[in-house]
Amino acid sequence: MCGIVGYAGARPALGIVLDGLRRLEYRGYDSAGVAIVCGDELLTEKKAGKLANLEKILAERDAADCDALGIGDGTTGIGHTRWATHGGPTDRNAHPHVARDGRVAVIHNGIIENFARLRAELEADGVQFTSDTDTECAAHLISIALGQLRAAGHADSPQLLAEAMRQVCQRLEGAFTLLAVDAGVPGAVVGARRNSPLVVGRGQGENYLASDVSAFIEHTRDAVELGQDQIVLITGDSIEITDFDGNPAAGKDFHIDWDASAAEKGGYDWFMLKEIEEQPQAIADTLLGRLTETGEIALDEVRLSDQDLRDVDKIFIVACGTAYHSGMVAKYAIEHWTRIPCEVELASEFRYRDPVLDRSTLVVVISQSGETMDTLMALRHAKEQKARVLAICNTNGSTIPRESDAVLYTHGGPEIAVASTKAFLTQLVACYLIGLHLAQVRGIKFADEVAAVVDQLQEVPDKLRELLGRIEPVRELARDLKTAPTVLFIGRHVGYPVALEGALKLKELAYMHAEGFAAGELKHGPIALIDQGTPVVCVVPSPAGRGMLHDKVVSNIQEVRARGARTIVIAEEGDEAVLPYADHVIYVPRTPTLLAPLLTTVPLQVLAAEIAAARGHDVDQPRNLAKSVTVE
Ligand code: M6R
Repeated sequence: MCGIVGYAGARPALGIVLDGLRRLEYRGYDSAGVAIVCGDELLTEKKAGKLANLEKILAERDAADCDALGIGDGTTGIGHTRWATHGGPTDRNAHPHVARDGRVAVIHNGIIENFARLRAELEADGVQFTSDTDTECAAHLISIALGQLRAAGHADSPQLLAEAMRQVCQRLEGAFTLLAVDAGVPGAVVGARRNSPLVVGRGQGENYLASDVSAFIEHTRDAVELGQDQIVLITGDSIEITDFDGNPAAGKDFHIDWDASAAEKGGYDWFMLKEIEEQPQAIADTLLGRLTETGEIALDEVRLSDQDLRDVDKIFIVACGTAYHSGMVAKYAIEHWTRIPCEVELASEFRYRDPVLDRSTLVVVISQSGETMDTLMALRHAKEQKARVLAICNTNGSTIPRESDAVLYTHGGPEIAVASTKAFLTQLVACYLIGLHLAQVRGIKFADEVAAVVDQLQEVPDKLRELLGRIEPVRELARDLKTAPTVLFIGRHVGYPVALEGALKLKELAYMHAEGFAAGELKHGPIALIDQGTPVVCVVPSPAGRGMLHDKVVSNIQEVRARGARTIVIAEEGDEAVLPYADHVIYVPRTPTLLAPLLTTVPLQVLAAEIAAARGHDVDQPRNLAKSVTVE
């Protein structure tokens, strides 16, 4: 939540910062702002609403040419795109926040939990606040700390700015990434991070700070991962990292293995549509090289022994939103393949219900961003209780994989649309691989059995391409459904989480009432919702799998149809048993039952995106949401 960019170098900072914000806008789009140091002046501009609003006033400012030294001339700058927490999404609450001396500007992601106390203290000292945010405290505190350091005889230098940031961070509670610039210290940007993302981009004669690497990917693919409670100071030719006490600290260098084009729309109207189309490749990439020469599944980072995995007697899968739905699918596969009891938990609930965890518990945390605060807090709780933690994550250098005992990265590439698509499918692939790995390590599956499932997984990308090649009727159906007051989704077994995911997508993007149900539960209450013409999307399992499961879902379709529902049936090609009860049928290629969500989810993604577009909504940036949820 909130996108942050900082630049120090020799080129004009404004364009670089704005380009970075454009790539980070998916993190929040309530307001945007920049602060640029020009000569020894600080120039700021900020505006409520999307980045385009800020760009408009910057263009007007440029045309008026009102500054002796224009905002476009400075070579040091910071920029922010906001998802509001403290204070509404207004101009005055937009970042940067400037200290009363007009020389220090600060941007922030996260929540400063002791801000009320700090604000009261500052107000008692005569500071007048100009916003409702917690961030403004940090701006005033940094400016005061700098003033005190100068009064004590310290000369202006980048290190002085870093020292002021260190002193302030020691007073802050909560989760935060902060970036600050000071007009008295041109050429330097200081950053601080605690429980909130911040990465460094290493350039030639210039360096970058950002919430994630997509902000600077077009300039450099060399990045540095920071640890918790660290301060980073960048100038054009240096990167200095310390802890909050000023002790030197090291970052971890990494190379980004995708390029700027991966984060562009590439001719699609929406990132989401592009990301849906990228799913076959994302699955193939996530599978690439997973089977070693000796037939074992390879994870990416393993700080767990095979014996640790053999000792596991219980598994919890913990995640939020779409990632949680992937965990629900994983439960079916993992229990079936390993015979280890497996529970799926919402990360935001996990630690509050005091789950029974010990050394022989494996907690699998799933997160596309690797920064979701609910999931991170659940992970930490699990580790405090001595459980082993294995992460499934799409973002290199993020906090969740770093704090886990083992990691399996999904190679989905950047997911920019707020609605998760390729992240979901690649999370499913990762879950299947983990289930197979556990089964193999524990001697329940032999190498050839594992290889057979991996072969089936490897066939999915082509099947998905075929499905996407004939998806047009789903788009037409979407236009037809755009005025429906409600849409229900039903499924059984792995089709149940698919139904939940279909409903989540529709709520999130089209702002329509939608609910997913276990098909067997309908008769226990929800069937009362069915009215004449109510659209019900039915996810039907393969008739080739467990026949009974298929027949039961077909019965459920008959039940809703008998009560007036308009049925939209997702079924395996060749399944003619559904035809008498389907108003619309969407066939997906044949695949084993457990792997079917890799296909059956996709028409539901397209349906939601197209209904949202038909209703005139922004498909990539739905209202009230942000991509990376770094508050609890
Ligand atoms: O980055 P994460 O995978 O941890 O994010 C979890 C959820 O916030 C995310 O999946 C959310 O539900 C999606 N916007 C749904 O499309």
